[in-house]
Amino acid sequence: MTYTDFLELVNSRYSCRNFSDKRLSKDTIGEILETARLAPSACNKQPWKFIVITTKENRDKIAQCYSRDWIKSASAYILALGHNEEAWHRADDNKDHTDVDLAIAIEHICLAATSLGVGSCWVCNFDVSKCKTLFGIGERFEPIAIIPLGYPSDETIISEKKRKAIDEIVEWDTL
Ligand SMILES: Cc1cc2nc3c(=O)[nH]c(=O)nc-3n(C[C@H](O)[C@H](O)[C@H](O)COP(=O)(O)O)c2cc1C
Repeated sequence: MTYTDFLELVNSRYSCRNFSDKRLSKDTIGEILETARLAPSACNKQPWKFIVITTKENRDKIAQCYSRDWIKSASAYILALGHNEEAWHRADDNKDHTDVDLAIAIEHICLAATSLGVGSCWVCNFDVSKCKTLFGIGERFEPIAIIPLGYPSDETIISEKKRKAIDEIVEWDTL
């Protein structure tokens, strides 16, 4: 893979909020999840669990946790859970690295999905306590994100990437 290939992959990932009726196969979801499994984590703790949601009953629960209509059009969802006790905590200040680890794994999921022509979106603005109750998530796990997955609908609008300029976010010590 070249840098150009990677840049193209990164550039073509976007938050997809409109999915077609075409279903995702179990194999495709499995390929996507393999890249989460391979993600790095602090001290290699891998403090995560990924719940794959496809059944009508569980899809309805997702809709209850995140009340935007668009999410219902996804073919499947991955509910990413973090295990705060299992995660590495920095000795200096006891900082819990669950979110950092999960963010890497989740972005692997989104990039892998893109590479397979599958749309995805990070969703963190959901009702966490409802999610825990509806899915029977025990005390040890924290729901971090819901990732809806599916083939983008023909009507999907892909907005231009709005990002800060490189010189706004990078400082070189040689300047
Ligand atoms: C940590 C995180 C949480 C997010 N939560 C939501 C969300 O709850 N709902 C939503 O529609 N988009 C959510 N997004 C998507 C962002 O709005 C989106 O990534 C950003 O506007 C850039 O657009 P792009 O993904 O199309 O490049 C989230 C993204 C991240 C990284």
